[in-house]
Amino acid sequence: MTEPLYALRGLRKVHQGPAEEVVVLRGLDFDIPAGDSMAILGASGSGKSSLLHLLGALDRPTAGEIRFKGRDLASLAPVEAARVRNRDIGFVFQFHHLLPEFTTLENVAMPALIAGIPRREAFARARESLSLVGLDERVEHRVTTLSGGERQRAAIARAVLLRPAALLADEPTGNLDEATGAKVGDMLARLNAELGMTLVVVTHNHNLAALMGRRLELQGGELYARNETSRS
Ligand SMILES: Nc1ncnc2c1ncn2[C@@H]1O[C@H](COP(=O)(O)OP(=O)(O)O)[C@@H](O)[C@H]1O
Ligand SMILES: [Mg+2]
Repeated sequence: MTEPLYALRGLRKVHQGPAEEVVVLRGLDFDIPAGDSMAILGASGSGKSSLLHLLGALDRPTAGEIRFKGRDLASLAPVEAARVRNRDIGFVFQFHHLLPEFTTLENVAMPALIAGIPRREAFARARESLSLVGLDERVEHRVTTLSGGERQRAAIARAVLLRPAALLADEPTGNLDEATGAKVGDMLARLNAELGMTLVVVTHNHNLAALMGRRLELQGGELYARNETSRS
C-alpha cells in the first residue's frame, strides 16, 4: 500500500483564549490519500480553519502528529516548514491576499521568485498557471482591476504555481456570488482531477462540497463522515 499524503495521529489543538483554553481538535486520527478530494464542513467556530492551518504547516499542533509525505510537520525547523509551504502546499483563502501594487502576472509568479527560480522561468510558469485558470487575457493588469472571481482565480493560479502536492482552500467561495463561486469550485475540482493535486476544501457551500470525493464534518473537536450530499 502506498503511504497516504497526510497521516494525522492523535492530532490535538488547544488555543489559549483570553480567559480560558479552547479545545478545538480532540485527537484526530485520519489519513488523506494522495489525489483525494475532501470537503470539511462544520459550524462557525468548530475548528475548520485551525485544522487547515495545521495541514498547511501554518501552525503547530498542541499534541499528536501530522505527517505529510512521511515527515511530521510539527518537527520541522521553521526554515524547512517555510520551504514546505512554498513548494509542497498551496493555500487559497476566502480573501485572495493578492498584492495590489503588482500585476496579476507578478502576483502569480511570487512563489517561484521566492523559491529562487530565475525571473524569466518564473514568469513563464505564471503564464501557464494563469492559462490553467482561464485568465490569459488579464496577466498584465493590476490585480485591483480584476473582478472578485478573477482575483480568486489568480489566487488559485498562484497557489498551484509550483504544482504542490496539496491544495488547501478555506471557504474559497465565501466572498463570491453563486455563479462565480460555482466556476471557482469547478476549477478546484478540475485541478484535483487533471493534475492529481490532493484537495482539502473548507466550505459552507453544499454545491462545492458535493464536488469533493468525500465530506467530513468537524463537531465538538472530532471529525465525522458525512455523506448524505453525495454526487450520484
Ligand atoms: N489564534 C487563536 N487564539 C485563540 N483562539 C483561537 C485562535 N484561532 C481560533 N481560535 C478559536 O478556536 C475556535 C475555532 O476557530 P476556527 O478554527 O477559526 O473555526 P472555524 O474556521 O470552523 O470557524 C474558535 O472558538 C476560535 O475563537
Ligand atoms: Mg474558518
